[in-house]
Amino acid sequence: KLVPVILCGGSGTRLWPLSRTGFPKQFLVLSGQTSLFQQAICRVNSIAGNACQIDETLIVTNEEHRFLALDQLRELKEIAARLILEPVARNTAPALTLAALQAGLQGDDPILVVAPADQTVVDESAMTAALRLSVQAALSGEIVILGIKPDRPETGYGYIHYDEDLGASGKHTVLQFTEKPDLETAVQYLSSGHYAWNSGMFVLKASTWLKALGMFRPDILQSVSSAWNSRSNDELFVRPDKAMFDQVASESVDYAVIEHCPGSEINISMIPLAAGWSDLGAWDAVWQTGQHDGRGNMLVGDAFFADCSNTLIYASNRLVSAVGVDDLVIVETADAVLVADRKQSQHVKKVVAMLEKQG
Ligand code: GDD
Ligand code: MG
Repeated sequence: KLVPVILCGGSGTRLWPLSRTGFPKQFLVLSGQTSLFQQAICRVNSIAGNACQIDETLIVTNEEHRFLALDQLRELKEIAARLILEPVARNTAPALTLAALQAGLQGDDPILVVAPADQTVVDESAMTAALRLSVQAALSGEIVILGIKPDRPETGYGYIHYDEDLGASGKHTVLQFTEKPDLETAVQYLSSGHYAWNSGMFVLKASTWLKALGMFRPDILQSVSSAWNSRSNDELFVRPDKAMFDQVASESVDYAVIEHCPGSEINISMIPLAAGWSDLGAWDAVWQTGQHDGRGNMLVGDAFFADCSNTLIYASNRLVSAVGVDDLVIVETADAVLVADRKQSQHVKKVVAMLEKQG
C-alpha cells in the first residue's frame, strides 16, 4: 500500500512579494494551469496502478491554510485526501513524522511517497517511472531519494554524493549528503561530477522514517508523538495538540535525518530523475524555468524592456518597464514592489524577516 504525502506548510518567503503569509507560493499558479500544490498531488498519484494501491493522500499543512488547500483539493475531483494541520510551522521533519504516524494507522506499514509542493516537472512519465522504481527499492526498508543532475552551483539544495556503480535495481548508494552547502563547496561538488541535487522527493516505509528519526532526533520523535497522541480528528482534518506541538524543535528532514544516514544502519540510496525538474524556490528559479527573449529576459504581465538582459519582470497590476539593466528581478504587486539582483534572490527572505520584525 502507498500513501502519498504532500508537504505544503512552507511560507515561501523567497518568492515575496507574490508569495504571502496568507497565500504562500505552493498555492499559486506559477506555471501551467494548476497550482504547484495541485501539480504535486497529481504527480504522486500518477503511480497508482495494479501493483500500487492508494487509498488516500495525506496533506500536511498549516492550520491557517486549510481552506486554501481544501478548495484546491476539491478541484481535483478524483483525489481522496486527509489534511493534517500544524498549529505552528516546525519545518519538514515534524511534518513528515505526523504523516508517518497517521499512515501507520492503516496497519500494514505503508510506503510513503513524500513530495514537496513547490516544484515543476516537464516529463511526467519519466517521473512516474522513477517513482515506481523507488517504491520497489523502499520495500526493503531503505530510504530512497530522487536525485537530479545539477547544472549550476545552487546553494539552496541538498547535495547527494553517490557511488558511480549503478546496481541492478537502478539505484546508487548514497555516500554522503550535504544540505545547503556554501557556494565554494557547491562549485567543488559540481565540478567533481559525482553529486546529484536532492529533489526533495523521498520514498520510504513509515516505519523506516520513525526508526531513523528515533536514532538521530529522538527529541523530535517524542515531542511529535505526544502532540499526535493528543490530537483531535474529524472526517477531513487531523489536528495535533497545539500546546505540545509548540514544544517541537524546528528542523528539516534533510538536517534532522538524511545527513546522518550514510554510513549508519539506515540504508539510503538515490534513483536518478531526468524529467526536467525544477524547484521554484526563489525568483532566480522562476527565471531559469521560464520563457526568454533573445537576451534572456522573462516577462510576465504588462511589462517591457529596452536594452536589458537576463532580467525577470513580473507585473501584477501596473505597467512595469526597465531600461539598460542586467540580471535583475523586478516583481510588482498591488501593495509591494521588489527589485533584486537575480543571483541573490535567495536573500529575499531577509526582507520578509525584517518586515515581520516590524510587525
Ligand atoms: N507541512 C509543512 N510544514 N510543510 C513544510 C514546512 C512545515 O513546517 N516547511 C516547509 N514545508 C514544505 C514546503 O511548503 C515545501 O513544499 C517543502 O516542504 C520543502 O520545504 P522548503 O522550505 O521549500 O525546502 P527547501 O527548498 O529549502 O529545501 C528542500 O528542497 C530542496 C529541493 O527543492 C530540501 O529537501 C533540499 O535538500 C532540496 O534540494
Ligand atoms: Mg523548496
